[in-house]
Amino acid sequence: MLIEAWNVDEKEYPTRGAFEDKAKFLLRYAILAPSGHNSQPWKFEISKNKIIVRPDYNRGRSVVDSEHRELFISLGAVSKIIAIAADRFGMSYRRKVIKDRVEFIFGEEKTVKKNLELFKAITKRRTYRERYKKKKIPLRLVAKIKKITSKGQSMVAVNDPDLIKVMADLIERADCVWYKSRSLIRELEEWMRDDLELTKDGLPTGMINMYKIAAETKYLFSKDSRVAKEKAERDRVIAKNTPLFLIIVSNDNDIHSWIEAGEMYGEIILTAQKLGLASGVLGSITELTGMKNKMTKLFSIEGHVQLVLSVGYARVKVPATPRRPLEEMLA
Ligand SMILES: Cc1cc2nc3c(=O)[nH]c(=O)nc-3n(C[C@H](O)[C@H](O)[C@H](O)COP(=O)(O)O)c2cc1C
Repeated sequence: MLIEAWNVDEKEYPTRGAFEDKAKFLLRYAILAPSGHNSQPWKFEISKNKIIVRPDYNRGRSVVDSEHRELFISLGAVSKIIAIAADRFGMSYRRKVIKDRVEFIFGEEKTVKKNLELFKAITKRRTYRERYKKKKIPLRLVAKIKKITSKGQSMVAVNDPDLIKVMADLIERADCVWYKSRSLIRELEEWMRDDLELTKDGLPTGMINMYKIAAETKYLFSKDSRVAKEKAERDRVIAKNTPLFLIIVSNDNDIHSWIEAGEMYGEIILTAQKLGLASGVLGSITELTGMKNKMTKLFSIEGHVQLVLSVGYARVKVPATPRRPLEEMLA
């Protein structure tokens, strides 16, 4: 299983190397970005002084993400990591979003390095799916997270106990619909990986605890739909005990907005990690239009809900998920 991707060591940065070597080194961090179903739907091109990040539509998920919204959120998360890693090594850059790609144009190297702590969080971060500790997040930490911005985006923070309950109910309802959809489950199954030796993407079912749920969904239709109810109920209990939810909202609903939302997501989860917090994604609400509309009304949101995140103190350690080798992603 390609877990080695996470063993990248900052001391190996090729300070005296050619631009291509430096760019490849940054990309070794970029590929650790999160993506829907761990699909890793991106391609990288290195040319002269540029890194170009393109979508890999072949790795899109046509059922859950037919308009490629989540694909571009994933692309945004990758771009944010490239930016943070470039800051860490003093590589100056301009970033441009052109149509469906993100271009980084690199310039002079600087001696001032930035974002050192955020950078360290890249290899430590994991998506968290378990119950959080019953421990409140100090308001000064919530305030730090709330400061994160991205062009055309805003963030709704939910930490009021009554609203947390509303969120938990919504998650249960969304999960019930999601896990009863034959087509969504079929697609999820396509991204489940049993063969741990050969896995380099998707969701490994063999990993104890974390992917137990994923493994269970495999039997949703072969047995009966009780598993869907149990899964939804389990997620409601987890949600009820979650100290903080964050809703990322965009002014517009196009490729640029999705990329910006993904960049914001990338910065939020790394900031959370830096502050000693774990984070997860509640995809079922945003993946079902009806549920997304309900949430928009319930929370009086103005704009387009892109992502719902949970944040809290982890109770259990989460294993790393595999990544494809960088070579497979170079255009
Ligand atoms: C757009 C997007 C949607 C996601 N939706 C979910 C989700 O609904 N449920 C979940 O548990 N994880 C979700 N994830 C997290 C991915 O499953 C996770 O990033 C991937 O499996 C890689 O694992 P890692 O984040 O621990 O490295 C989502 C990630 C992204 C970028």
